[in-house]
Amino acid sequence: VLANLIGNAIKFTGPGGKITTSMIVAPQYVEMVIQDNGRGIPENAIPRLFERFTRAPENGSETIGSGLGLMIVREIVEAHHGIIGVESELGLGSKFWFRLPRNV
Ligand SMILES: Nc1ncnc2c1ncn2[C@@H]1O[C@H](COP(=O)(O)OP(=O)(O)OP(=O)(O)O)[C@@H](O)[C@H]1O
Ligand SMILES: [Mg+2]
Repeated sequence: VLANLIGNAIKFTGPGGKITTSMIVAPQYVEMVIQDNGRGIPENAIPRLFERFTRAPENGSETIGSGLGLMIVREIVEAHHGIIGVESELGLGSKFWFRLPRNV
């Protein structure tokens, strides 16, 4: 999951960009956050982002990918009874987070 999310952050953030990761350990869950200041994701692409073969149109020819990574990431997180989400603004960056329960 981390390799996929950090890999995306690298792929969609230009040279000189910044990627940060952080972790919150709460009594009931662990939350990981992967944030970048790359190109961001258009608002209308966000609802279907974790579905297969979804790629935001802006990324068409410049980057390589099949749009499967985030679907696999979501399935892994959900297999561990977790939840995943994204906040993003076009041109400013993206923040992906996921939360895994500590006691299942
Ligand atoms: N950190 C990010 N910044 C900007 N856009 C992103 C980011 N992560 C994902 N996206 C957008 O979401 C789309 C889907 O991501 P996903 O990882 O599923 O596919 P991919 O990286 O294009 O291909 P694959 O992971 O299958 O090689 C990407 O094509 C891109 O448009
Ligand atoms: Mg990917």
